[in-house]
Amino acid sequence: MNPQISSNQINQEGHLTIGGVDTIELAQEFGTPLVVYDVAQIRSQIRAFKKVFEEEKVKYAVSYASKAFSAVAMYQICEQEGAHTDVVSAGELATAIRANYPMNFVSFHGNNKSAAELEMAVDHHVGKIILDNFYEIELLSQILEEKDSQINVMLRITPGISAHTHEYDQTGQIDSKFGFDLESGQADQALQEVLANPRMNVLGLHAHIGSQIFELNGFQMAAQKLVEVAAHWRDQFGYTSQVINVGGGFGIKYTEQDQPLKPEEFVRAIIKEIKNSCEKVDLPVPEIDIEPGRSIVGPAGYNLYKVGSQKTVPGLLSYITVDGGMGDNIRPALYQAEYETVSANDPQKEITQEVRIAGKYCESGDILAQNQALPDVKPGDILAMLDTGAYGYSMASNYNRNARPAVVFVENGQAKEVIRRESLADLIHLDESYVD
Ligand SMILES: Cc1ncc(COP(=O)(O)O)c(C=O)c1O
Repeated sequence: MNPQISSNQINQEGHLTIGGVDTIELAQEFGTPLVVYDVAQIRSQIRAFKKVFEEEKVKYAVSYASKAFSAVAMYQICEQEGAHTDVVSAGELATAIRANYPMNFVSFHGNNKSAAELEMAVDHHVGKIILDNFYEIELLSQILEEKDSQINVMLRITPGISAHTHEYDQTGQIDSKFGFDLESGQADQALQEVLANPRMNVLGLHAHIGSQIFELNGFQMAAQKLVEVAAHWRDQFGYTSQVINVGGGFGIKYTEQDQPLKPEEFVRAIIKEIKNSCEKVDLPVPEIDIEPGRSIVGPAGYNLYKVGSQKTVPGLLSYITVDGGMGDNIRPALYQAEYETVSANDPQKEITQEVRIAGKYCESGDILAQNQALPDVKPGDILAMLDTGAYGYSMASNYNRNARPAVVFVENGQAKEVIRRESLADLIHLDESYVD
């Protein structure tokens, strides 16, 4: 059996269960493709990140990067678990508002926030705006002036550290589109601008070095660098940072090749590095913020698909086609992301074939898995793709005018639909007739 499935996930019928609920019943009740989240696993990931901060007795925020999966239900879980959250658009912020999520726990990110988005953030008094560029400082200062308001800000810097990861995921390099450059003095200039603005309360500095990172050293280097900058800002401008945010990017296990560290290991190393670095330059240990996205929701998510057509090209390969694909998970097509897939009907069934799992979209590149070991399956069987919870549904599209799937949260043997499946009416409700 796939080692990512535990034996207590198999019920008496031999079916895969998630959160104590039979996946075959989920597929029958809610249809396929279906995105299912194991809520207990989301909670335990958040708690694992928080635990070390509590043990180390440092001020902190575990801020869920909600671009990984944004939904009213998700912000509600974050609030229950005392997690902060990052948003990167008016849409994510509106979703958090709809969830009655505490706005002082929200950080607003993005390299081109619009005036409307900044106004919304100011009107709702979000906890932190992470400033990314000079244009944004200018825009925000005009908005604060017009609204006679004030707000907390952080400065995002590009620390010049590239974590060892997939090249598409790197955002920490000097040539990054994100943040203020250190070497050229842009970060210093940005600090001076915001310090001179009495409407902006500067909390500290932020860096995000990449995604799906498996080593500690990238985070340690980033932490060191951020403390170095904080010390330089104190010496140069008499400004002491209250918050250092080292971003997200904590790697998870998608396939057997991935050997991620535990949340605890990442957090302990980051705290240690910041404490040591602060001691060296005689700075008080600041609030330490992290922004995990993938690691909070990725492992908790499963995509359920129904098997349809099968095709064998003799001597070459076999295809199994499912009723979803790049519209509900574009990551394999976009950057060759790999996942493991099991038979939900019988995860213990003997493996008999290596197949390519194809989606139903009209693109040759719509392949969900290039080479997956599976038992014999027949049309109507359910496949469960594992660890799909991050950047799957959140990147979903209506390509080919397919409806986006439903999302179901399961916990303690109960299932609740938290995003309903789009209907055909939903798909065409924005269309207007051109011809009278
Ligand atoms: C600024 C920032 N923080 C956090 C994250 C979350 O990263 P991950 O989902 O890899 O933890 C991202 C991802 O792009 C990001 O850009």
